Amino acid sequence: MVEQNLRNAIRDIPDFPKPGIIFKDITPILKDPQLCEDIVDAFVDRIKHLKLDVIAGIESRGFLFGLMVANKLKIPFVPIRKQGKLPAKTVAESYKLEYGQATIEVHEDAFPQGSNVLIHDDLLATGGTVVAAAKLIEKLGGHVAGFSFLISLDFLKGEGRLHRFSENVYSLVRYN
Ligand code: PRP
Ligand code: MG
Repeated sequence: MVEQNLRNAIRDIPDFPKPGIIFKDITPILKDPQLCEDIVDAFVDRIKHLKLDVIAGIESRGFLFGLMVANKLKIPFVPIRKQGKLPAKTVAESYKLEYGQATIEVHEDAFPQGSNVLIHDDLLATGGTVVAAAKLIEKLGGHVAGFSFLISLDFLKGEGRLHRFSENVYSLVRYN
């Protein structure tokens, strides 16, 4: 039920950010508090057996539900941010984009060694972003316990790249 309501709330924006791309806009979800609560509960149901210590969410859209789910589980939330935004000492990881490259960072004292970390983002496309995030978690001595997304674009085959870190990949809505 929540999956269908979520699917209905996602808005397709053709030709954004460039011609030929259909952008999955999640902003309508955020205007519906009941749907947000149901989404948080759906994530909690899927991940509660993982004995998580931390949820790491990826800037910016991974912050929205990552923090809400961490709060619900009463565990810490850690922001993974784009380069140059975090104020204390960081570790960084770069990854390829269609054109050029991007870098994400996390505070080096974000969580204790050996922590069980769930990586959360709004959407899985090629997987480049969350693979870089998983490398960051491992650099800090964390264990990648799984990945969660609102949306997976399965036709881009990103999920296969995640299995070397964890087989636990949870997506509420998939597009084939
Ligand atoms: C989008 C999306 C994911 C990522 C998925 O973020 O929110 O984070 O791309 O792509 P990938 O699986 O191919 O790496 P974007 O970089 O557009 O930034 P935003 O979340 O700040 O809008
Ligand atoms: Mg993003």
